[in-house]
This record gives sequence, structure tokens and C-alpha cells, in this order.
Amino acid sequence: MPKIEHVEPPLPEIIGTASAMQDVYRLVRLAAPRSTTVLLVGETGTGKEVIAKAVHKLSRRASGPFVRVNCGALHENLLESELFGHIKGAFTGAVENKTGRFEAAHGGTIFLDEINSTSPHLQVKLLRVLQEREFERVGESKTIRVDVRVIAATNASLEELVEDGRFREDLYYRLNVIPVVLPPLRERRDDIAPLAQFFLRRYADQHKCPVPDLTPPVVDALKTHDWPGNVRELENTLERLIVMADGGPITPDLLRFGRPRYALRPTKGGNGGGGGNDVRTLIRNLVRAGVQTPVPPGLKGYHPFLVDGLERELIEEVMRQFGGTQIKAAERLGINRNTLHKKLEQYRADDAKAAGRLAEAGRSTNGDELPPGAADETLTSEAVSPP
Ligand SMILES: Nc1ncnc2c1ncn2[C@@H]1O[C@H](COP(=O)(O)OP(=O)(O)O)[C@@H](O)[C@H]1O
Ligand SMILES: [Mg+2]
Repeated sequence: MPKIEHVEPPLPEIIGTASAMQDVYRLVRLAAPRSTTVLLVGETGTGKEVIAKAVHKLSRRASGPFVRVNCGALHENLLESELFGHIKGAFTGAVENKTGRFEAAHGGTIFLDEINSTSPHLQVKLLRVLQEREFERVGESKTIRVDVRVIAATNASLEELVEDGRFREDLYYRLNVIPVVLPPLRERRDDIAPLAQFFLRRYADQHKCPVPDLTPPVVDALKTHDWPGNVRELENTLERLIVMADGGPITPDLLRFGRPRYALRPTKGGNGGGGGNDVRTLIRNLVRAGVQTPVPPGLKGYHPFLVDGLERELIEEVMRQFGGTQIKAAERLGINRNTLHKKLEQYRADDAKAAGRLAEAGRSTNGDELPPGAADETLTSEAVSPP
């Protein structure tokens, strides 16, 4: 296949030509016409849903339905009946028959968003639909067959979840036929200005006001921000800026309105001004930022994520201050020497484990070969059999 140097976005409403997006566009164009399963991987707000819709619109199923299911939003039992439907009386509250989303997507595409949050029980059911394109409604034994293209999205590393035993390996292989990785916005800063212009026009239209000018210092500031919420955060910021500009140009003094709320909240308590840089305020802001971030896979909750994370920073900083002398560091930290020693051992072990995982990931993402069964999957999903 000839190497294409520069690939334009696949659809007019997808903005950005940064080199980090070229692989995404190329894969979308290649995968869309076939009915292959596509797995979209990326942080929240990177455009997974936009890309899923593009795959659908560029496929032969474009005139069929596009059905999105947020697997992270529903409890296991509700999700099962949402996906597969149920019959009247199947469980308390099932007062009438309900058609599932797989049936609703017949002839089109189903987009399984946040697939990483599905329970083991649901994962077994999903594996079967992916393999056989058949399932039963909850409370019924009749098997239903559908012709559906599956696109799944994850904001966590499925490889790590598989390793931790939280995601079935066989389902992972079924989903990972064409993996498409969406880079975070901070890795495609060239796209920030065109995206900002795009949202500016969109929200000016929506609020029925003239498109305001973005002054160069504002563009610079937008380009240097790290956008933890990615394109969604940029979009919200632009909408807010249009409202704040109130018909005038968008100037840097308005930009502080675009900052996350936790940084804007006035500090409480009378610690002499509370300007924002004292340690108490920083801790409060750290916690607020932390609880707005998804807990990374492999960690049990906010406590290990934030408290253990902070503790490690502290210990390593004090160890540096004392040139690696554990006795002095333990004294300054106000903790027992043995405790300090154990913690340092633990950090070394954690690092070794993480390095092993990285090496493993490097090996398994190498090359574009499809896993066994990928080819016949394309065939089965093309065979139309009405439900
Ligand atoms: N490349 C893009 N061009 C235009 N709009 C985008 C782009 N990527 C994301 N968006 C917009 O940003 C918001 C978040 O995108 P979305 O697809 O919902 O992200 P995700 O599903 O990864 O959380 C949506 O409003 C979407 O329209
Ligand atoms: Mg989404």
C-alpha cells in the first residue's frame, strides 16, 4: 500500500490535522467500509464518540441506526436488559417487554462506550454476541440473531485490566481487532487553535451573536494549557468565553473564567489572606482536582491514588534533601526508620512491576496483525439475518 503523507479528517465536522491524528484518520478510512470491530482508546474528551460516529457514517451501514450505550452509567442488571432486552415478568419491575439496544442497532452500529467498566458477568455475555452475533432477552430462551457492527471505547488500558484479572482476555482480543488510539489534546497542540475557532463559530451561532475575535495572547494561552479534559474541556471553555465576552473580543482577562472551578473557589478559614499558594490551599486544590480525575486502573480508590501518591512524593523529596540517608530522612519525616525502609522497598517493587508492564505493552502493540478469528468475524457480521 502506498504511504500517504498527510491525511485529512474523514468528515467535515472533525477538526484537526496534527500529525498525532494522522494514524487515527488513516485507520478510520481503512476500517470504516468493512464491518470489523473497532476499539477506540483514549482519555475522556479526546473524541472517541466523534470518531465512532465517523466510522458509522463512512460505512455501508450509514443509513442504518447508530446506537450508543454507556456501559459505565448503568448497574450490571440494568445494563444487561438495556443491551439484550427483557420480557415482561423477567424480574421485578419488568412490567412489559423491552427491546434491547443490540436489536435496535440491527443493520447498523452499536457503540459500547466505557466498555472497561463492564462486570465479569456482562463480559461473558458480550463475548458471545461478539463471537456469534446472537443472544437471548433476559427471561427468555429464544435466541435472537442480529447483524450489528460493534465499536467499543475505553478510557482505561484494557491490557492492564486484563493483567489485573478485571477484564476477560478473550473479550479483549475480540474487541481489539482494529485498535485506534486517540492522543490527548496536549499531544496535538497544533489542533488547539483550529478547534477553538470551530467551537467559537459553533457557539456564536448557537447564542446568536457575532463570532468574536480571539486575541493572539488568548490563542497562546489556550495552546499552552494542558487540557486534562481534552477537546471537551476546550469546547466548554470556548462556550464560556463567548458568554463572558458579551459581544466584545475575547481577551486574556476573560480566560480565568475558563479555569476549573476548584481553582476559583475562594479559600475558607482565616489563615491570613488565603491567597492560594499556602500549603493548606494547595492540598485542598490537589484533592479537588484528584476527585475529578478517574482513578487510574490498578488502584482501588482515591485513597491509594491521592494519599499514597502524595506520600511517595514527600518521602522521595526528603530522601533527596538528606542525600539518601534513611536515618535522617525518617527523623525529619517523623516516621519510624523501618517504616521508611519498607516504603522505599515497596516503591522499587512497584517501579519494577510498571516497567515490566510497559515492556509487555510494547511487545503486544507491535505490528498490525489481527488476532486469530478476526478475519471470519468480518464475514459473520456481514451475513444479514433478521432478528
Ligand atoms: N476532532 C474534533 N473535532 C471537533 N470536535 C471534536 C473533536 N474531538 C472531540 N470533539 C468534541 O469534543 C467533545 C468531546 O468529544 P467526545 O467524542 O464526546 O469525547 P470522548 O467520547 O472521548 O469523551 C464533543 O462535543 C465533540 O463533539
Ligand atoms: Mg465519551
